[in-house]
Amino acid sequence: MTRPTYYITTPIYYPSNRLHIGHAYTTVAADAVARFKRLQGCDVWFLTGTDEHGRKIEERAAQEGKTPREFVDPVVAGIKELWQLLHIRYDDFIRTTEERHVRVVQELFTRVHQSGDIYAGEYEGWYCVGCETYFTDTQAKDMDGHCREHDRPLERLRERAYFFRLSKYAGRLLRHIEDHPGFIRPESRRNEVLALIRGGLEDLCVSRTSFSWGIPVPFDPQHVIYVWFDALSNYLSGCGYLQDETRYGKYWPADLHLTGKEIVRFHAVIWPAILMAAGLALPKCVFGHGWLVLEGGKMSKTLGNVVDPVVLVGKYGLDAVRYFLLREVPFGADGIYHEEALIARSNADLANDLGNLVHRTLAMIKRFQHGIVAAPVRPEAIDDQFREAVLATPAAVEQAVDGLELSNALGAIGRLVSASNKYIDTTAPWAHFRDGNEGRLATIFYHLCEALRVVAVLLTPFLVETPGKIWQCLGLAGHPGEQGWESLTVWGFTRPGSRVQEGPPLFPRIETSRPAEGGPPPKIHVEPATVEIDDFRRLDLRIGTIVEAQAMPGAARLLRLVVDVGAARRQVVAGIAGEYEPGELAGRQVVVVVNLKPVKLRGVESQGMILTAGDGDRLRLLVPDGPVKEGSPVS
Ligand code: MSP
Repeated sequence: MTRPTYYITTPIYYPSNRLHIGHAYTTVAADAVARFKRLQGCDVWFLTGTDEHGRKIEERAAQEGKTPREFVDPVVAGIKELWQLLHIRYDDFIRTTEERHVRVVQELFTRVHQSGDIYAGEYEGWYCVGCETYFTDTQAKDMDGHCREHDRPLERLRERAYFFRLSKYAGRLLRHIEDHPGFIRPESRRNEVLALIRGGLEDLCVSRTSFSWGIPVPFDPQHVIYVWFDALSNYLSGCGYLQDETRYGKYWPADLHLTGKEIVRFHAVIWPAILMAAGLALPKCVFGHGWLVLEGGKMSKTLGNVVDPVVLVGKYGLDAVRYFLLREVPFGADGIYHEEALIARSNADLANDLGNLVHRTLAMIKRFQHGIVAAPVRPEAIDDQFREAVLATPAAVEQAVDGLELSNALGAIGRLVSASNKYIDTTAPWAHFRDGNEGRLATIFYHLCEALRVVAVLLTPFLVETPGKIWQCLGLAGHPGEQGWESLTVWGFTRPGSRVQEGPPLFPRIETSRPAEGGPPPKIHVEPATVEIDDFRRLDLRIGTIVEAQAMPGAARLLRLVVDVGAARRQVVAGIAGEYEPGELAGRQVVVVVNLKPVKLRGVESQGMILTAGDGDRLRLLVPDGPVKEGSPVS
């Protein structure tokens, strides 16, 4: 059976940039998706690379007394080292200075020229070298003649140039975007692009004569090809176009071009139009993610406020950094970067929840079962429910990754970790140890080992060191990354009789006042399991007014209440009969959990729950401090 293919790309990076945490963001996200697809069994081609031509590079090299090539080579080597440090598992790294790329760009340019969609003309406009872009008079006026992003004045340039007939493709592009709702994602970026096209497209200047560091127009070598025409073509040259037809046939069209939001228009307007003009298939999806910014605004070399991923990995470890990048901000939205947020995430989710789960499970197996996982004996309802939660998690993660909701994917794994901690708290293995109930202990720990196995495999796309460590602790052979998706759909993979190993803590809690390098290791706090704010938000709490209250025959402690919760009335059975007389309740406001699954209590359906507080002696209703409209949310 042939495996489904999956071709994913990142933007190719400018070697004039010093790569910061924002750049790492795109690539780590693409790496996680690529790893996930491999885990699912897809035949993946993951491409990244460098965008090395253009006047900016030519100028930077000249400033340093180097040729452009001498300037870019060491920077590109540094970029590759960074990806190695972050364990980015790309399948190919394309440099736009490579011969294989140059050939493709020249061929594509020639083809589009031959089809009549590239024509010779003259260009005059306002140009920013930083953006490598011309601006119209109106745009330049709006910008006060100055590019704020690169802090340099726009220059008036006039040159003989080749133009791409972008305007001709506006209608076809619109139709394609409308017919393929998944082509530009998320929805907000799709709307932006639709508005841009509907506003009218002008032909695009696609050659330059004002500098020479670029790919020459093959039939007019005084011109070099516009860097964006050059750069976008990497997605073809990087998958074998015109060199390896088998590879090209297998992977093109790309499944996903992942890009930052500011370059979506190049990927979702110019690139598809070039492909249409060349008669090639369009990529299936362009996803524009948001930006990681600092509280004061953008990270930029000019402002000197870039956050260096190498420093962060050195300080907090690779997995804490990868986890933070993927979990903290919903993918697609902008996020503000704080080092404190990274520390808080690592401490809460990794040290407390995950680290603690692994630690307490293994410590108890060691203490209560001599370190051996025994076969389960007659699972009870609570074990079955837990098993169902474990087996439902892979599908939840899959759904989130398919929607590129990477933070939600990690959230789903986090929920399983929390459920596992809760399972320990509820099943209380220590009590069964005290009672000598070995069957119960065997069942509980078997279920926990299975949960940890699934967590380890599901984490492999996102984290690179932790899953293997968990695997080793469980005494399992091989590596979780090699298990394959099917291993997640079966229960009972853990072999009874296997011996667990307690290793060092997975994630030492990060102290904010960390000792200097080389000092004593940070203290490890093992804290009780916590819930996520998302867990709390899943409860729908509303203000309601009791409109009716009745005693329930044969149920001394229960009252049947009818509560107005705004949109509807709910019947709620509450255990407050000993505390309140039915007559004193009508008109009182209460807090109601409205999204609780209905249950029958003494034959009466209860469609929610009323919140109370009790100290063992008395039970009181939780009420708002003053009148509040029915249905108002409680947060
Ligand atoms: N060379 C072009 C891409 C050409 S693709 C055919 C380019 N390079 S870049 O080095 O400036 O940016 C590479 C990627 O990093 C872009 O997707 C950009 O959005 C992303 N990021 C740069 N700074 C960022 C943040 N602060 N936050 C998130 N991503 C950001 O653009």
